[in-house]
Amino acid sequence: MKILLLGSGGREHAFAWKIAQSAMCSKLFIAPGNAGTAQCGENIAIGVNDFGAIEKFVLEQQVEMVIVGPEDPLVNGIYDYFLSKPALAKIAVIGPSAKGALLEGSKAFAKQFMVRHQIPTAAYAEFTAENLEDGFDFIDEQTPPIVLKADGLAAGKGVLICPDHSEAKQELREMIEQSKFGKASDRVVVEQFLKGIEFSVFVLTDGMAYKILPNAKDYKRIGEGDTGLNTGGMGCISPVPFVTEELMKQVEERVIIPTIEGLKQDEIVYKGFIYFGLIKVGEDVFVIEYNCRMGDPETEIVLPRVKSDLLTHLDALAKGKLQDETIVIDDRAAATVIVASGGYPENYEKGKVISGLEEVTEAMVFHAGTKNDGDHIVTNGGRVLAVSAFGSGIHEAVAKSNAAIEKIDFEGKYFRKDIGYEFR
Ligand code: AMP
Ligand code: GLY
Repeated sequence: MKILLLGSGGREHAFAWKIAQSAMCSKLFIAPGNAGTAQCGENIAIGVNDFGAIEKFVLEQQVEMVIVGPEDPLVNGIYDYFLSKPALAKIAVIGPSAKGALLEGSKAFAKQFMVRHQIPTAAYAEFTAENLEDGFDFIDEQTPPIVLKADGLAAGKGVLICPDHSEAKQELREMIEQSKFGKASDRVVVEQFLKGIEFSVFVLTDGMAYKILPNAKDYKRIGEGDTGLNTGGMGCISPVPFVTEELMKQVEERVIIPTIEGLKQDEIVYKGFIYFGLIKVGEDVFVIEYNCRMGDPETEIVLPRVKSDLLTHLDALAKGKLQDETIVIDDRAAATVIVASGGYPENYEKGKVISGLEEVTEAMVFHAGTKNDGDHIVTNGGRVLAVSAFGSGIHEAVAKSNAAIEKIDFEGKYFRKDIGYEFR
């Protein structure tokens, strides 16, 4: 089977690495990919949102399955685009329809969905320019901190946690009246702050059956001890030590099953991954967010922990036969640690030569922001590498990732040495 994988981050290198191991895979293309994906298949210079170029390519190359890494093309409707063209309709697209992708693409849609299907989530209200004054009143009624969320996609930056009423009102005004996050903040969800501990659960679904993948906890802040600015994620661990069987049972009964049933009831086509961003408050679980794709860097440990053939699972999913699949999970703990460019998540330089990659033997190095530059692999983003390792426990897995990172070098290299610190 010929596969096209869309995306260019560490998540896509992990997908490419896993897919390339499948006996079912005869050829793997990655668009646009990075220096890491180039080791698993052939990179193609096509952007993930260029549906016309993707269409031409898959027809020319007789690609049979398109696996979509990032959210953008999903929210932009790549699934529906394929379905609408007779020549493309038989090609499997792994990802939800545009309507399904709204679970991530619109916070207001996601909140309405959760309320409609009685899925536990923070109390909220939504506001636009039309009812901004009501928004100020609503804020006054809340106990700080107050959470504001731009409705649309805002590259992970659209959530603000405001310490008091006046800042919340000021931010609400800036989001709506001054387009602080562009069109994404024309509508704003204001919600109750939940105090608890976060973790993530991932499922594969064909719209009927679902299969649960390894859970994970990511570390979003740039600084050790969870300090400083938010990032796309500086590392993560799996499994999450406090996520007991009992807690997973609650997640399944209160969150996963109602979500799958809700999609069915609402006639939303969904054949892909669902990422549940969850928070445990006391003994109860709430949904913080949905994503319509796998996480990055979560994928860099979730897929290594999947021992069975992912492509076989995806093929079954595309055929509506996911129910028959058994996903085999590695019991060992895994960790991934992101190696970033100095200055990230603010300004940083690109094009720094990366050395020592070939010296790493005890860990898996997934490329996130890299490219081939003639004879060298150079940095090409804020998050440069995700270095994943297994261990008998979290401590050993993180220690192995950190030791591997010590062998790698580039100017401005930065990483958090304390991933999984609460559990070590
Ligand atoms: P999101 O983009 O929705 O994942 O939000 C980004 C981050 O903001 C989450 O990972 C949480 O740490 C935090 N957050 C979002 N909503 C809430 C909430 N209602 N209560 C507390 N923290 C929240
Ligand atoms: N690591 C968080 C995300 O992928 O959204």
